[in-house]
Amino acid sequence: MKHDSILGAVGNTPVIRINRLAPDGINLYVKFEAFNPLGSVKDRLALGVIEAAEKTGALKPGQTVIEATSGNTGIGLAMVCAAKGYPLVVTMAETFSLERRRLMRFLGARVILTPKEEKGTGMVEKARELAAAHGWFLTRQFENDANPDMHERTTGREIVDAFKGETLDYWVTGFGTGGTLTGVSRVLKRESPDTKIVVCEPPEAPMIASGVPQERNADGGPATSHPAWKPHPIQGWSPDFIPKIASEAIDAGVIHKIVETPAADGMAWARALARKEGIFTGVSGGSTFAGAMQIAEAAPTGSTILCMLPDTGERYLSTPLFGDVATEMTEEEIEISRSTPGYQL
Ligand SMILES: Cc1ncc(COP(=O)(O)O)c(C=O)c1O
Repeated sequence: MKHDSILGAVGNTPVIRINRLAPDGINLYVKFEAFNPLGSVKDRLALGVIEAAEKTGALKPGQTVIEATSGNTGIGLAMVCAAKGYPLVVTMAETFSLERRRLMRFLGARVILTPKEEKGTGMVEKARELAAAHGWFLTRQFENDANPDMHERTTGREIVDAFKGETLDYWVTGFGTGGTLTGVSRVLKRESPDTKIVVCEPPEAPMIASGVPQERNADGGPATSHPAWKPHPIQGWSPDFIPKIASEAIDAGVIHKIVETPAADGMAWARALARKEGIFTGVSGGSTFAGAMQIAEAAPTGSTILCMLPDTGERYLSTPLFGDVATEMTEEEIEISRSTPGYQL
């Protein structure tokens, strides 16, 4: 396939059947967003918000772009800004993985770290401060309608097309900004109204499950942390507030079920996907898959389930996902080495 630039390669990610891990009689599929050029679902949002701002004139040629991001949005924006010639600054809490910072810097972005005590709202406020002080374009991934609009135009469309002529019984996702959730939900509600929408939350942060609405500022941003939120280890999921974008799907009443997926289960499923299916996703992907397996185990025989996998496992080499993966040879590997006479270490 030929593209005019790397940006043409965003989206159209594959839907892949799960063969060895799916319960008998269940058609379980994943939509694998690692196939985006920079390895995550956020490449879609990055392209969507920049091209929408170019169209409205909110973003001027050569203007600096700034965003608060736990990583994947920054990496996607760094690609889009590099390809289109915009300087990029990202603010990011110091807790997120080192390779995310280094990747963004490799793509030419500047990364401003914010204190972990200030949580997700701290990095958002810092981006706002810097944008106001320097006249930079703030992409506002948590409030910008161009985010769910892009998912409605691309991810949602792709899902409906992939299951044309079949029944998709369940679609399972987590949420960060809620762009995926709200954009895809719009399409499913319209074109596949029998598909049940399932949302995963970490047990430490059952914000949607709590039913407590988010307090907001006039611009839709969070006024405070949500009372049901506590820190959790699933990077990219459930910031310390319910984003305005996610509230569209909540308020529309399209969420059929909320499932709790502990990070330990998510990491176990990420490993199982890698070892049993050859599918290499990150912690949020494993956690979404944990939710999909809960649904799969209770679903009637013949059900079809689609699970979002937001990014690649390569983004987690320095995190607990790889905690039990050895660097040196294991006993078993030494034994294999010793089973022939040559080239032993
Ligand atoms: C690793 C990861 N998983 C899941 C998500 C959720 O995607 P969305 O922002 O569309 O809700 C994100 C982004 O926030 C992410 O970075």
